[in-house]
Amino acid sequence: MKHVVFVCLGNICRSPLAEALLKEQVNKLGRKDEFHIDSCGTNGFHNGEKADPRTRANASEHGIDVRSISRQLTLGDIMDADYVITMANDVHEHVLRFCRNEEQRQKIHKFRKFDPDAPDSDVPDPWYNDRFEDVFQIIDRNCAIWLEKEFAQTT
Ligand code: 4NP
Repeated sequence: MKHVVFVCLGNICRSPLAEALLKEQVNKLGRKDEFHIDSCGTNGFHNGEKADPRTRANASEHGIDVRSISRQLTLGDIMDADYVITMANDVHEHVLRFCRNEEQRQKIHKFRKFDPDAPDSDVPDPWYNDRFEDVFQIIDRNCAIWLEKEFAQTT
């Protein structure tokens, strides 16, 4: 079982969508049982809230239900996960500083590390720029890339 946690700032826009889209893609591939997929945020400002209504509305236009409830990153997330995937570089630096040792730091990956169009770049934050459809496309495409590059079926 691969335990994957996506991390953004507020856990109401980017990382909940990544969680929902990777779940959808592994379901479609019949690989649901191989993964535990979750998300959280670095700042905790929206703890207990549903994802942003604009994120949910945009995703639902694509038939995707974004169900996660916002919560803040804990050290337990890093200890329990195999992959902690950060949606932007500020979040990445924050999570690296949060780690207690090298074993934990090795688990932290940038979401767009494999993206041929913009390697290691941020997923733009739609909370500020309103580009919900662009963000949907970036996240959907990069989840597929992760499944191809890192999470390829081995059996
Ligand atoms: P997210 O977007 O990190 O993609 O969930 C944000 C949502 C809320 C805030 C920042 C980013 N905020 O500061 O409240």
